[in-house]
Amino acid sequence: MNLETDYLGIKLKHPILPGASPLVDDLDRVRRLEDSGAPAIVMHSLFEEQIERELSAVHYHRDRHEESFAEATTYFSKEEDFPLGPDEYLQRIRRIKEITSIPVIGSLNGVRLGGWIEYAGLIEQAGADALELNMYFLPTEPSDSAGDIERRMLEIVRAVKSNITIPVAVKLSPFFSSLPHFVQELEALRVDGVILFNRFYQPDIDIELKEAISHLQLSDPSELRMRLRALAILYGQVGATLIASGGVHRTEDVVKAIMAGAGGVQIVSALLQLGPEHLQTLVKGLELWMEAHGYESIPQLQGCMSLRNAPNPEAIERANYLKMLQVWKA
Ligand SMILES: Cc1cc2nc3c(=O)[nH]c(=O)nc-3n(C[C@H](O)[C@H](O)[C@H](O)COP(=O)(O)O)c2cc1C
Repeated sequence: MNLETDYLGIKLKHPILPGASPLVDDLDRVRRLEDSGAPAIVMHSLFEEQIERELSAVHYHRDRHEESFAEATTYFSKEEDFPLGPDEYLQRIRRIKEITSIPVIGSLNGVRLGGWIEYAGLIEQAGADALELNMYFLPTEPSDSAGDIERRMLEIVRAVKSNITIPVAVKLSPFFSSLPHFVQELEALRVDGVILFNRFYQPDIDIELKEAISHLQLSDPSELRMRLRALAILYGQVGATLIASGGVHRTEDVVKAIMAGAGGVQIVSALLQLGPEHLQTLVKGLELWMEAHGYESIPQLQGCMSLRNAPNPEAIERANYLKMLQVWKA
């Protein structure tokens, strides 16, 4: 049985890896991930806001006027909200490279062109084998058109790519009018992979306090479906590695993601809930499932349920939406 996969041009011994998360904040957990068979480690993100604060005097300014600029204090998280400052982040990459023998993938998170992009080069110099670029952007201004936002994202990707030689994966949100078109634009910039999808954390409202409240809820497998559809649509249309992120908890979720077209499957919530050792369970589970169903390699399984290969592609397309609404019964 060969579980090897091509991940951003890097050969990994299998496709299941821990996604960007606080798992890397504790070196013992990093070791446990490697011991549990993690084929690579993804760092949590270093944020534009963190870097820009360090690069400018905003830090000083914010602290002195903390009370009077409530807006500023909500925009700029406090330093203690970030487990690692920019220098410590680079140091952590070096340290993880020292204590493990697997590829380390850095992660940058930002939405505006700026000095923070130079950290792509510093992350490469620190020893990272690849970089994830997460452009979590929430439009609130009607004057911001989809085209403007996409152009801005592409400018950031272009700037990052021109700074480094290691592979780059872009972590995308599910909210594009035409995801295949945007992915095609990313490919034109020689992006090596796309991660589907970022999770947007939705605020709730406390009706007594009349306050917006936010707390992070871990995922469940129902979130995988949206990823499966996107993977199935993109598979065979792009050369970049397709990476699933969101809602993968069980062996069957891993199998589904690969069948839809994923060359890599990232796991976070399940590892936070069940511990790094759950990775091993998933790898073993994948191997047993493939053996039982006569598959000998990942490429053999990958994309067999994509839009172009599924025996009933209409279930993935709009036709299914029409059908489901018509046949629903209480
Ligand atoms: C506590 C926590 C911290 C996270 N930090 C990051 C991060 O720094 N950068 C990033 O791109 N994604 C981050 N994520 C998102 C995960 O990488 C992943 O995309 C998301 O949790 C969906 O995968 P899952 O369903 O396996 O949890 C974080 C998720 C959690 C739960």
